Amino acid sequence: MVAISNGQGGEQGWSSRSAFILAAIGAAVGLGNLWRFPTLAGESGGGAFVIFYIGCVFLLGLPLLLAEIFIGRAGQTDAVGSIRRVAEQSRVSKRWSLFGGLGALAAFLIVSFYSVVAGWVLYYAGVFAADFGSAVLAGDPFRGALAGESQEQIAGRMGNLFADPMLLLSMHFLFMGATLFIVARGVSGGIEKAATWLMPGFFVLLIGITIYGAIVGDVGEAAAFLFTPDWSKLTPEVMNSALGQALFSLSLGVAGIITYGSYIREGTKLGSTAAAIAFADTGVALIAGLMIFPIVFAVGLDPAAGPTLVFQTLPFAFESMPAGSLIGLLFFVLILVAAVTSSISLLEVPTAWGVGELGWSRTTSALVFGAGAFAIGVLCLLGYNVLSDVRPLGFWSIFAETDILDTVDGFTGKIMLPLGALFTSLFIGWRADRRLLETTTGLSRGMFTLWRFLLAWLCPIAVTIILVTGLFPSLLGAE
Ligand code: PHE
Repeated sequence: MVAISNGQGGEQGWSSRSAFILAAIGAAVGLGNLWRFPTLAGESGGGAFVIFYIGCVFLLGLPLLLAEIFIGRAGQTDAVGSIRRVAEQSRVSKRWSLFGGLGALAAFLIVSFYSVVAGWVLYYAGVFAADFGSAVLAGDPFRGALAGESQEQIAGRMGNLFADPMLLLSMHFLFMGATLFIVARGVSGGIEKAATWLMPGFFVLLIGITIYGAIVGDVGEAAAFLFTPDWSKLTPEVMNSALGQALFSLSLGVAGIITYGSYIREGTKLGSTAAAIAFADTGVALIAGLMIFPIVFAVGLDPAAGPTLVFQTLPFAFESMPAGSLIGLLFFVLILVAAVTSSISLLEVPTAWGVGELGWSRTTSALVFGAGAFAIGVLCLLGYNVLSDVRPLGFWSIFAETDILDTVDGFTGKIMLPLGALFTSLFIGWRADRRLLETTTGLSRGMFTLWRFLLAWLCPIAVTIILVTGLFPSLLGAE
């Protein structure tokens, strides 16, 4: 085995190409696919959003994904160091590496609230585990979920959870602890192992629940909702959120893919690898829609419920479904698995930075950033109860009404992520050395030209539009 010089010890690196693909799919597939995508598709009226989203993934996301994999592969170290190395080899300013630092900071902030949301999922997994346990004890394992509870009672669980700081904190602690544990164990021993164990299970559950939804639910209505475009619903805000969602779902703009790419060994075909990741991520988002909406429609519930769709609407639907208790449990376990393989990729970015730039040991670095993110997450969760009046960026009109968690989410998603994507596209589209790009990516001539064109022109223009319209919604006539 070839030891690679990524400054992090020779053992750091994926053991094979498929290990990298699996880990990267694990990073990409997460709450973004299973919670945020159905939420946004539901709120935005379905078809037009979904089709526009798919366009964003392949015209903007895929080129950016390849750009990030390239930087990591060519740089072979943490995001800042990798960009610096590519800049050196391209004889352009090393200051480009600053956007790697921006990405690491964004990843650090995202993992703080990501762990809080994953904590809600953990709580619901616990609720359904207890419910299924009592169904089994009662000799009726295939009964509906939460038998006998009214819709208000089921919806009320979320309110009760949010009002209970200690409960929120314990869930957040458990999830962040698991994330930290895996990251501290390293790339091949921790992250790769987690991905190779968890991702196959994830796909089995996903397909299983989707088939279940097709049997008991209304797939026809769900498919019509998701794929029949009503173009009048494609407002500038909807386009803006579709673009932002494409970046978030593919884990772009936070240097996560740069970091994972740096552990690739020689000889991996980067173009087809990037395509595999983009297809898998988009496929899972669409399947998640086809899993959730048939169940929602079968019970005549509202697809536009918003962020509570998964936590309030679905559990209620599970109540009247055969085996709803068991399926509910499996459903939340599914989301949990997806969330943990994403959160480790988020924590890995600042951890690798601490190792590569500050010379810390992996354990120290993971502990420092994990504890830091935990602390910010605690502030986020207190924002639902003790600190519910706090508006951290209240002086800024777009964040005037936004609580702590949504502020961290909005600031990273609307500002830091698009900025990261913008710098990546400008750096690779205009400044990086052409020969280095050609030899590292190994793309055919035609694909190479298309790739660079999309990066140099379409990405910067489209991403600038997201950034500007996100910051100044009044330009869209919204408000
Ligand atoms: N892509 C992940 C998801 O969809 C979130 C994420 C963003 C993970 C950025 C890593 C980096 O849930």
